[in-house]
Amino acid sequence: MSGPNTSFDPKQVSSLNADAVAEMVAAAVAAIAGANSLSELKDVRLAHTGDRSPIALANREIGALPPAAKADAGKRVGEARGVVKQALEAREAEIEVERDTRVLVEETVDVTLPTDRQPLGARHPLTTLMERVADVFISMGYDIAEGPEVEAEWVNFDALNVPPDHPARTMQDTFFVASPDSGVVLRTQTSPIQIRAMLDRELPIYVVAPGRVFRTDELDATHTPVFHQVEGLAVDKGITMGDLRGTLDHFAASMFGDGIHTRMRPSYFPFTEPSAEVDLECFICRGASVGDPDNHCRTCGSEGWIEWGGCGMVNPRVLQAVGIDSSVYRGFAFGMGVERTLMFRNGVSDMRDMVEGDVRFSLAFGVEA
Ligand code: DAH
Repeated sequence: MSGPNTSFDPKQVSSLNADAVAEMVAAAVAAIAGANSLSELKDVRLAHTGDRSPIALANREIGALPPAAKADAGKRVGEARGVVKQALEAREAEIEVERDTRVLVEETVDVTLPTDRQPLGARHPLTTLMERVADVFISMGYDIAEGPEVEAEWVNFDALNVPPDHPARTMQDTFFVASPDSGVVLRTQTSPIQIRAMLDRELPIYVVAPGRVFRTDELDATHTPVFHQVEGLAVDKGITMGDLRGTLDHFAASMFGDGIHTRMRPSYFPFTEPSAEVDLECFICRGASVGDPDNHCRTCGSEGWIEWGGCGMVNPRVLQAVGIDSSVYRGFAFGMGVERTLMFRNGVSDMRDMVEGDVRFSLAFGVEA
């Protein structure tokens, strides 16, 4: 049995003397105080408390001490480790508070800054205008009618009293879906919806039909090959042109303001007899600019009236084509261009703005549900 180690040389374990331990603690505490981030603190922790740190090495030396010195050195090193541990914990808490405060400041959202988010879409003013037109007629008891955009030539022309050799057929420059003798076209007007309504529905018929139509026009400020019309049709017993006038006046007032009247000028459409062009009283100058050189009206060109669409009494030949007894029933019909209506209702001067799909154009009309 070996006795106590009496050959203990204090020089060999100088790392355990009070000054040396105090120095280690001081070095550790200084390094801890100098750490400015959690990752710096992690390095400091490793350097000053890790397996190869001076304190850990000193701790290992304790075993080599004689029992008499062990307790003393053990206490010293234990205290030193406690001080360093506490300093680490305190600094860690401080750094976390600093970090949280900084993150709060850095990540503050300034809700007054302009947004750079992609704008959401907006409903197109043509869509909302067509819905408004539909609402006007629904409130008068009309139904909404629809038809296909790819239409039978017979429905688009023949049934509407436009035979193959009729000039109106070439007037409306037609897109044929296959060959010109395929008998299938992109509808050139919403009037074929009249035919479908009369074929499909029970009498009496009161329908309004907004829809997309196609003609082989070049796109420019006043033409577009794809545009919209709204068609109206009433077929009942005892319908007169007076009913047509009253309906159009109500339609005009609902769209352009109370008291705005319509006027009719004789015209020709194969599917109506008699036929008329509908003009709208200028809702800006209400005729006051006519003949007054000092008061030019840009909306009507000082004409007092704006061309709005076509109308008339349904031609008996059209009623016969769909099997309605024209000696019992009569009807009126009308059709307007929706783009044209939007142009003078909202001062849009270039049709291209309506088809280019720039959301800023739609947003200028306000976001409508
Ligand atoms: N469909 C005609 C066009 O595109 C417009 C029209 C005129 C429709 C008279 C009608 C009407 O219903 O009665 O030019």
